[in-house]
Amino acid sequence: MLGNFSYCNPTKLYFGDNSLEYLNTELPKYGENVLLVYGGGSIKRNGIYDAVIDILKKNNKNIAEIAGVMPNPTLQKLYEGLEIARAHNTDLILAVGGGSVCDYSKAVSVSIYCDEDPWEKYYLKFEEPTCKIVPVGCILTMAGTGSEMNAGAVITNHDAKLKIGHVFADESIMPRFSILNPKYTMSLPEYQMIAGIYDIFNHICEQYFSGDDDNTSDYISEGLMKSLLVSSRKAVEDPNDYEARSNIMWTATWALNTLVAKGKSTDWMVHMLGQAVGAYTDATHGMTLAAVSLPYYRHIMPYGVKKFARFAVNVWGIAPEGKTDEQLAAEGLDAMEMWMKEIGLVMNITDLGASEDMIDGITGATLILGGGYKMLSKDEVADILKRSL
Ligand code: NZQ
Ligand code: ZN
Repeated sequence: MLGNFSYCNPTKLYFGDNSLEYLNTELPKYGENVLLVYGGGSIKRNGIYDAVIDILKKNNKNIAEIAGVMPNPTLQKLYEGLEIARAHNTDLILAVGGGSVCDYSKAVSVSIYCDEDPWEKYYLKFEEPTCKIVPVGCILTMAGTGSEMNAGAVITNHDAKLKIGHVFADESIMPRFSILNPKYTMSLPEYQMIAGIYDIFNHICEQYFSGDDDNTSDYISEGLMKSLLVSSRKAVEDPNDYEARSNIMWTATWALNTLVAKGKSTDWMVHMLGQAVGAYTDATHGMTLAAVSLPYYRHIMPYGVKKFARFAVNVWGIAPEGKTDEQLAAEGLDAMEMWMKEIGLVMNITDLGASEDMIDGITGATLILGGGYKMLSKDEVADILKRSL
């Protein structure tokens, strides 16, 4: 473990099928003005909205709402929400939904008291907040992003055709508390469930496929991936399997709450490619990652072949006897491809609405990072995207 680091994650978690009760424990810690943030209506259909409103009222909270936060929340929606948040003199932002609602709430949180334009400051200049941050609490309804226990907030700017994530350095931007009830995820459409499963898997890959040192974080990552393979298959077979859904939810949180990146370098190029595809297609986040993953990993595999061979053996259980690292690495990615197809992921960007004439634009929108096994050139990005069509 060669890296130096500090570690602090202040998000308090309440996990399990009774976890909503603990909203009563958290609410008295904040002022009376609660801003309830949610998406397109799933929480009204599955009863979560009523249950949350009931608790807010019992705790004498003065409630305002931002409804209709869309998947891949937009800058336009952020501007709209800021007016509501400011008018309400918000003491606590309560995000009830998936990663989009949670990310959006964090973006509101750092922008309410910000005099500058949030897109310019946080997403183009990548600056940290210099203003008061309004606390966020989260009631999670979809497992995938890890937004419930991290400081990331991804915003899409349709005018600029850019989808950019800012992972804030200040841990006070992480949710103060998150309520994780695996039962809440059971009303998710299957498409969203499996997109979330791949998002989790890829978060782990992004942090695993980088660096050569023997690192505790990589062993934790292998354990998380193995758990996810077991629980994903069970959840696809029976979406109401509580044990599987609870394991998926917990794995999602640990896959991206900063732990498995500690002491090592990380990659994140699949996310950069996927986000650029998302900026052009508005497709579901996890599916954009699935569609570009194999062309990307097969491209960089020769540069990190030892790690890919280890992945084959330790995650996919491939017998190493008599095989070269190259053979093992290739078999590992083949096993991953089979699992991806088995659970029903979208395997190309054409099915997500991308086309050949968008390749130049998507290439231009792809931020190139240097933490993985190979720093890509723009030509390589374009080539990977073409092979993802
Ligand atoms: O809007 P509603 O009606 O709630 O419907 C949502 C939405 O249509 C639905 N849904 C959520 N929970 C449900 C449900 N439907 C029925 N029952 C439930 N219990 O699912 C759809 C997708 O929701 P969304 O929140 O968009 O999904 P996800 O959690 O995958 O979040 C995606 C966003 O998070 C960003 C992505 O880029 C994307 O913008 N990410 C955030 C990260 C972070 N904070 O660290 C990292 C990720 O890599 C990711 O980039
Ligand atoms: Zn992701």
